[in-house]
Amino acid sequence: MKIIFATNNKHKLQEVSAVLGPGFELVTPREVGITEEIPEDSPTLEGNALQKARYLYERTGLDCFADDTGLEVEALGGAPGVHSARYATDGHDFAANNRLLLKNLEGKTNRQARFRTVIALILGGKEHLFEGIVEGVIDTKENGTEGFGYDPLFLPEGSSCSFAEMTAEEKNAISHRGRAVRKLVDFLVNHK
Ligand code: IMP
Repeated sequence: MKIIFATNNKHKLQEVSAVLGPGFELVTPREVGITEEIPEDSPTLEGNALQKARYLYERTGLDCFADDTGLEVEALGGAPGVHSARYATDGHDFAANNRLLLKNLEGKTNRQARFRTVIALILGGKEHLFEGIVEGVIDTKENGTEGFGYDPLFLPEGSSCSFAEMTAEEKNAISHRGRAVRKLVDFLVNHK
C-alpha cells in the first residue's frame, strides 16, 4: 500500500517505515511535488497533525498521514509541548533546545516528562486520529548520540539509558511514535 507521510525528516521516515514494515510504501511530500513547507500553526498536536494531513489531501487527493510530537514536562506546565521544535530558536536547533530545557529545569526535583505523538490519517477521505505516549524523566545531562531532538536527555520510565543510547529498534519498541504508528498499522491492516 502506498501512502504519503507528511515529513521530510529522514530520522522520522526511517523510524516510521521500520514500524510499518514491508507492506507499506511511504511517499514523501517532495516525491509528489509538494516542496513548500506544510503549514502547522495550531495550538495543539491534534490540530497540527490534522492541518498537515488535510493540506496534503487537498493538494493530492491521496491517502496520507501526518504526525506531530511534543515533549511535555510536568514542572514546566507541559512546555515545550506543541512548541518543542522551536523551543529555543526559530529553527530546529536541537542542541539549543536541549540547553534551554536543562536551564529551565535547573534546581527542580520534579523531572517527570512524557513524549506524546498524534497521528492524523486521511484514508478514502475520512479522518482518523491515533495517539502514542511514553512517560519518563529528563536527565541532568545529555547522554548518547543516536536519534534526534531531545533523545539525549530523555530517560524512558524504567530505563537507565536515554533514547539516544538505544538502537533504533529499542527506541521504536517503546517510543511515543512507535506506539502511535503501531496503532496506525493495526487500523490500516484492518481497513485495507
Ligand atoms: P515533530 O512534530 O515530530 O516534528 O516534533 C517536534 C519536535 O519534538 C522535534 O523538532 C524534536 O525537537 C522533538 N521530537 C519529536 N520526536 C522526538 C523524538 O522521538 N525524540 C526526541 N525529540 C523528538
